[in-house]
Amino acid sequence: MREIDVRAPGRVNLIGDHTDYNDGFVLPMAIDRDCHVRGRATDGVLILRFLDGGDANSDRIAHAVQDVLGLPVGLDAEVHSTVPVGSGLSSSSALAVALACALCAAGDATLQPRELARVCQQAETEATGVPSGIMDQLTSVAGRADNALLIDCRSLEIRPVPIPSGIGVIVVDSRMPRTLAGSAYAERRAACEQVAARLGLAALRDATLEQVADDPRARHVVTENARVLAAADALAASDLAELGRLMLESHASLRDDYEVSTPELDALVDALVEAGATGARLTGAGFGGCVVAVSSAEEAGRIAEEFGERAFVARAADGARPG
Ligand code: GLA
Repeated sequence: MREIDVRAPGRVNLIGDHTDYNDGFVLPMAIDRDCHVRGRATDGVLILRFLDGGDANSDRIAHAVQDVLGLPVGLDAEVHSTVPVGSGLSSSSALAVALACALCAAGDATLQPRELARVCQQAETEATGVPSGIMDQLTSVAGRADNALLIDCRSLEIRPVPIPSGIGVIVVDSRMPRTLAGSAYAERRAACEQVAARLGLAALRDATLEQVADDPRARHVVTENARVLAAADALAASDLAELGRLMLESHASLRDDYEVSTPELDALVDALVEAGATGARLTGAGFGGCVVAVSSAEEAGRIAEEFGERAFVARAADGARPG
């Protein structure tokens, strides 16, 4: 039987949250923490040994990926992940993408990056019931070492933006369980779709600030999209001060307009700035999970150390690849 050995990374989103399902823009990077699947192809049975225990959804996601892919193959494999589970770094997308790649390798199938991401997005939504966007899966598939990805979530066009060697990216886990993340996520998404429908638009991507000035949820989406594009320019220009400022604005908007922050995440953002970060914000869906910060590359290690074991300096990594 054919040997299978693939890995797929988690991600951290530098800026652009709750924009992907509004056909907007995001600026994530794949990180140097990944999910590794190693074993053999089978004729259909799926036997997975989760070396780190996995989480409640791991098995469900695995079977959903197999179902959605629809290839007449299975796996007998070990799954080992270094992506922290349940902290907003897309451990479940890393798992879905790694398994999808493993099953494609087992079945001799080739999918284009966007198709692969769509398969994983659909499988995760079926397995978890959370109607997530495409950012996490597409980043895990298409990540590029030393680059963030500016993704247009309408066209799914991806523009790699090099992360200058002088800029460091720090991730700190709040260690708060994301209990509300699923239900509140679906509720926020529905609210956005209602505003778009009322305005006669395909998605909030198409709204102007004037149109949404009195609706805090929609206002977050419109202002966040603008911040993502500005942040991509700032990153490309090595303008750390501007990047940091945009990240702090993003956090304020997620806290005040979109209301997906928590007191612990707010305190972490403040503590990171206090420790010397140029900017910081909650990253991912919110309601717990991680904060991402930027600083000069020189200072990043020291700042991360101040937050102990729950913090690390993240490097931008390649997307899914052979193990
Ligand atoms: C979760 C979802 C993503 C995205 C973020 C918020 O990570 O899986 O699709 O919507 O929340 O930006």
